[in-house]
Amino acid sequence: MQVTVIGAGNMGRGIGHRLVAGGHEVTVVDRDPEQAGRLAEELREAVQGGATVEAAGPDAELSGEVVILAVYYPGSLELARELGDRLAGKVVVDITNPLNQTFDALATAPGTSAAEELAASVPAGTRVVKAFNTTFAGTLVEGQVAGQPLDALIAGDDEEAKETVAQLVRDGGLRAINVGPLERARQLEGLGFLGITLQQPLGLNFQSAWKLIS
Ligand SMILES: NC(=O)c1ccc[n+]([C@@H]2O[C@H](COP(=O)([O-])OP(=O)(O)OC[C@H]3O[C@@H](n4cnc5c(N)ncnc54)[C@H](OP(=O)(O)O)[C@@H]3O)[C@@H](O)[C@H]2O)c1
Repeated sequence: MQVTVIGAGNMGRGIGHRLVAGGHEVTVVDRDPEQAGRLAEELREAVQGGATVEAAGPDAELSGEVVILAVYYPGSLELARELGDRLAGKVVVDITNPLNQTFDALATAPGTSAAEELAASVPAGTRVVKAFNTTFAGTLVEGQVAGQPLDALIAGDDEEAKETVAQLVRDGGLRAINVGPLERARQLEGLGFLGITLQQPLGLNFQSAWKLIS
């Protein structure tokens, strides 16, 4: 699958590693082309199963069906508005944990989520999926914690779009869990926030993962 990752930071790197492990064609975009180039070079060293990696500038055409916005909220909303019609028809993945400026609460209003706000900012026909916000960047590079594959919790209103993201997740060696409609992003963002708050008190150093077991 062709996937564009916008944002060549920590999460662009982590998700990028899972995508190339899964054999996908990845285009890395950043507003700093050198940063995109450096990540593309790192990912090329890790390709498996016919994966390819390219770097592109912010004005490049968005290749592929899936666009992952690996940037902070609310910049993600501004970015979506800037991209405008270039997102039309794509599966757009929101990975944000929308924390406030003091990192002690969510910045979104009660009764909504960053993902739902994003869905209201994209052109009609664009399918927004929430994923990867509950997995830390460093753990995505390996795809596992304590020998167990990461769970990627996925919310969205379009079943086909969610399955597309789930396929990327599974190809990268992770477990995909469909948690329901996009409205569930409210809970996923709460869970992501909770995970962040636990790092310092428990000395986890962002090397922990949420795991659903039965
Ligand atoms: N880090 C984690 O473990 C983690 C886990 C789950 C979810 N998340 C979420 O993932 C998102 C990204 O986090 P991160 O840690 O990867 O941040 P990061 O390391 O700062 O990476 C973001 C990258 O995106 C670039 N960028 C920002 N706006 C852009 C735009 N309009 N066009 C192109 N590139 C742009 C940034 O460039 P500049 O440096 O110039 O701003 C930076 O290179 C956040 O929403 C965060 O809440 C993070």
